[in-house]
Amino acid sequence: MEGIPEELGSRLAKAESVAVLTGAGISAESGVPTFREAQTGLWARWHPEDLATPQAFQRNPRLVWDWYRWRRQLVRDVEPNSGHLALVELERRVSDFHLSTQNVDGLHRRAGSRNLSELHGNLFRDVCAYEGIDVDLPAADDELPPRCPRCGGPVRPGVVWFGEPLPRAELLEAESAAAGCDVYLLVGTSGLVQPAAGLPLSARRAGAYVVEINPETTALTESVHCSIRGLAGDVLVSLLERLG
Ligand code: OAD
Repeated sequence: MEGIPEELGSRLAKAESVAVLTGAGISAESGVPTFREAQTGLWARWHPEDLATPQAFQRNPRLVWDWYRWRRQLVRDVEPNSGHLALVELERRVSDFHLSTQNVDGLHRRAGSRNLSELHGNLFRDVCAYEGIDVDLPAADDELPPRCPRCGGPVRPGVVWFGEPLPRAELLEAESAAAGCDVYLLVGTSGLVQPAAGLPLSARRAGAYVVEINPETTALTESVHCSIRGLAGDVLVSLLERLG
């Protein structure tokens, strides 16, 4: 891994406000398959459009639920890693901190991050497909799709599917954090999916110092002030050490 650039170290040390956007890369070290890797094993013959769209759910809600239950189990079996924990510690040290994530695995929340916007929802939420509100299902509910206890309509996973808008409140929080921060960290995301990929650009326009942490070049590499090539866990832990 490259060292922490001098300028980033000093800007972070002075920063009153830090915002972060994470993607699948931060959970890679926990062993969570990325969206594309999740199309393996039993699920290799399905395309994301067969499983993660409102149309797929209408067509075959049982199939979609089987896939999400499988993904829930994958995530239940893993733990937050040093990258998630470093962001919890960074939140403790910076007076104004906001974390936006595109991940639906809930690992930031499990690690202890508090000021958090889950832009693509959360794998473990159950939402009434008719009313769009969270519901509590009985633990032993095996019906697929589960039924809303209020209206009897089908229940869906509380994630954002292809073609759906992001949750408004979360997106507004993420935009406001990007527009008001001194340093913006972009961790483990390919930067291909809008509107999340626009957040670092807004941060830069508003005057933030924008840093990418990723072992690979991404669609956003050209637009950031500085790229650190390394694994999220290693780099974030080094950042904290640099802060002292
Ligand atoms: P991607 O799978 O597109 O990209 C993962 C990124 O993480 C890549 O740029 C990798 O180089 C990087 N990476 C891998 N291992 C890493 C590590 N240990 N440390 C740091 N970086 C690492 O995932 P996202 O950018 O999160 O949307 O994808 C964004 C959205 O596209 C997802 O939320 C999902 C998907 O389609 C929806 O489902 C709506």
